[in-house]
Amino acid sequence: MSKPLMAETHTHKPNGGPAVAGAVVLGVETSCDDTAAALVRRRPDGSAEILSNAVWTDHDDHAAFGGVVPEIAARSHVERLDHVIARALDEAGMAVADIDAVAATAGPGLIGGVMVGLTAGKAIAMAGAVPLIPVNHLEGHALTVRMTDRAQFPFLLLLISGGHTQLLWVRGLGDYRRLGATIDDAAGEAFDKTAKLLGLGQPGGPRVESAATGGRADRYDLPEPLKTRAGCDFSFSGLKTAVREIAERMADETGRMAGQDVADLAASFQHAAARHLAQRTGNAMDAASVEDGAGRLVVAGGVAANCAIKSMLSSLCECKGWRLIAPPAKYCTDNAAMIAWAGAERLAAGMAPDFDDALAFAPRARWPLAPPPEGRAIGGGRKGPKA
Ligand code: KG4
Ligand code: ZN
Repeated sequence: MSKPLMAETHTHKPNGGPAVAGAVVLGVETSCDDTAAALVRRRPDGSAEILSNAVWTDHDDHAAFGGVVPEIAARSHVERLDHVIARALDEAGMAVADIDAVAATAGPGLIGGVMVGLTAGKAIAMAGAVPLIPVNHLEGHALTVRMTDRAQFPFLLLLISGGHTQLLWVRGLGDYRRLGATIDDAAGEAFDKTAKLLGLGQPGGPRVESAATGGRADRYDLPEPLKTRAGCDFSFSGLKTAVREIAERMADETGRMAGQDVADLAASFQHAAARHLAQRTGNAMDAASVEDGAGRLVVAGGVAANCAIKSMLSSLCECKGWRLIAPPAKYCTDNAAMIAWAGAERLAAGMAPDFDDALAFAPRARWPLAPPPEGRAIGGGRKGPKA
């Protein structure tokens, strides 16, 4: 199949390279349990207009199993994606004919879900004869602040989600250097497991955060992971074990902790997790060189919605004379606006793949943004070894 014709709104860069300005991009996100679609316009000056942002999440689907079940998630995406895309179009007051390009998450994530979203993206791009951009979900998180806050490159990125915890230098579009990552669990995974141990249900992160309100963060003495080890790697498994031991020790006759004890342990865990994230991020800041373009710290991913973590990072930045940039909470957790935006950035930069290559693009369960630093092992996590 030949490359589709560019829509009328497309313009060309003065240097003659094919580029698109003022493009409306449909984003599709299905890499975990959220079924999401959004329409985002990237204006010629690089600013964003989020025309719609539809997300369908049903934690009840997975509640009985204590976590996301890949097969259930994939089936839900099949059933819901059409409706979610229709809602995104409707909210924006647009039709498929108004879309200049389609961007779909092509990985990393649960493979069944990624297949559903990417296949739908391919079908819409073919039907509308518009470009298709397969997007790395992590790049979606990484570039969100350029959509919400017009953040400029380069910046230090702390990416904290349910499947990933890493520190990267983001030097430009598609130009990422990894400084460190978790050697065991991801930060979000630790929040989810803590919620389970405290009987708070899922999604764990927001439940732990609200349980921690009114709790005493200094009540339980939790370990400081990797305290004696320099560098930018993370570890959450020791914290998780410590929380489990306390929860077992403090359990009442029903086998669970209750009342103020829950609030205090949630607050103590949240504080310890925030302290660890800030400590490792501080190491990365201290190692930043002039050419890294020091001065901007971006936090992204679902866990970046946590106010205690943002406040600890904000103090760190104040101490070091840096600026903290965090997207609004609804663009921290999985959404399709960030996928549409990553696609729009690639399109505008002339980095969208040839149409035939995009159609042939295979979904990826694993897709690192950048390789690990020399000699460093890749850590594990809920979705297997982490990117
Ligand atoms: O980015 P995301 O929506 O999905 C992945 O790409 O993994 O992140 C989901 C993770 C979950 O582990 C969830 O518990 C956590 O982000 N999370 C939070 C908060 N909101 C979501 N963790 C701590 N505090 C929150 N407020
Ligand atoms: Zn995510």
